[in-house]
Amino acid sequence: MTKRTPPQTLSKRHFFRLGWKLMVLVAVGLCVIGLLKLQSELAAPPARGSRRIRADAFVGSPKVAFLFLARRDLPLDFLWQAFFENADVANFSIYIHSEPGFVFDESTTRSAFFYNRQLRNSIKVGWGESSMIGAERLLLDAALDDPANRRFVLLSDSCVPLYNFSYIYNYLMASPRSFVDSFLDKKEGRYNPKMSYAIRKKKWRKGSQWITLIRRHAEVVADDDVIFPAFKKFCQ
Ligand SMILES: *[C@@H]1O[C@H](CO)[C@@H](O)[C@H](O)[C@H]1NC(C)=O
Ligand SMILES: *[C@@H]1O[C@H](CO)[C@@H](O)[C@H](O)[C@H]1NC(C)=O
Repeated sequence: MTKRTPPQTLSKRHFFRLGWKLMVLVAVGLCVIGLLKLQSELAAPPARGSRRIRADAFVGSPKVAFLFLARRDLPLDFLWQAFFENADVANFSIYIHSEPGFVFDESTTRSAFFYNRQLRNSIKVGWGESSMIGAERLLLDAALDDPANRRFVLLSDSCVPLYNFSYIYNYLMASPRSFVDSFLDKKEGRYNPKMSYAIRKKKWRKGSQWITLIRRHAEVVADDDVIFPAFKKFCQ
């Protein structure tokens, strides 16, 4: 996993945060945990599933998958509408995890780009709980089913784009890296030693959950069956 400053286009500095700030604070580090496993995974890739074979064989226009983790609706949908309007529909896809049963249609959103883009298998999410990672994994899992998706951008319902589509698309596609926030917080005491069989203390990091992953890393997070179960058990 390469550590790097997030791109200007998607860094948290450049996003307005109208809500969820508290949640971000509570949930910091949650997502990064799934990534801690990357290094060992990459050294010894698991058996290739059919999804991976299809992705490897894919030729065509690569897409950026925009993955929205929303509480209910997307209040800033009008800004995203303007953003996606200028994009080539072959270059992106949209997935939304929202409250179970919530439907995106003309009565709940001003942007047709979001119609029926919500996951059918969404779960009830609690602030700062592992269900948050569960929801992110569902989003990644759904997006991985489309072999055209090559970059996976996790967004909250209060994120807005500050650059146009082509700028962000070209920036992400030009980079072979994932963008994650990860740092060692010496003051924090959230590490539970009971998790040490799966997550070693010296691998414990803090970071924002709003990340952008390349496909290989999205697979690691979605397919992980070691880190997430440990987190679920000890970080409720
Ligand atoms: C997108 O933004 C970039 C950088 O701000 C600018 O150079 C470019 O002309 C814009 N493209 C379109 C299609 O508006
Ligand atoms: C769509 O993707 C193609 C390459 O796959 C690129 O040439 C084109 O500029 C992209 N369109 C936009 C609006 O970014």
